Amino acid sequence: LVVFVLNGPNLNLLGTREPHLYGSQTLDDVEALCRQKGGQYGFEVRCHQSNHEGDLVGWIHDAGQLHRDGRLAGVVLNAAAYTHTSVALLDAIKGTGIALIELHISNVHAREQFRHHSYIASAAKAVMCGFGVLGYGLAIDAIAQWQSH
Ligand code: DQA
Repeated sequence: LVVFVLNGPNLNLLGTREPHLYGSQTLDDVEALCRQKGGQYGFEVRCHQSNHEGDLVGWIHDAGQLHRDGRLAGVVLNAAAYTHTSVALLDAIKGTGIALIELHISNVHAREQFRHHSYIASAAKAVMCGFGVLGYGLAIDAIAQWQSH
């Protein structure tokens, strides 16, 4: 079974970008952590990052195809700023029916008002924020638990 870990705009800058909010680990570190965690459960973990909204829509469609083929365990999506702007991502998630965890490294509710609203949360199976990059591993733990029930 496949787990997708999708990261949106500016997350390629992890490690150097506002480390007081996002920590000092790089995207490579985070993706390695996800592969290791997923591997413990026998998942094939596919990690992608893009600064372009349409790339994220495309990967959600790819996940939808795997879902239809019975090969998808789940998707972890940090849509970053597109969380707060993107009807296209909402429609993509709704259109595929995939089990998706919306993730944010920082606690978006403790930040600016414009980060409090998510366009995608209503189509997510679960939403998590504020766990730092640890959240990615916790999300994969949750996907594994759901799979075994
Ligand atoms: C973020 C929070 C978003 O508000 C922000 O635009 C990001 C990262 C997070 O992981 O905390 O780029 O998704």
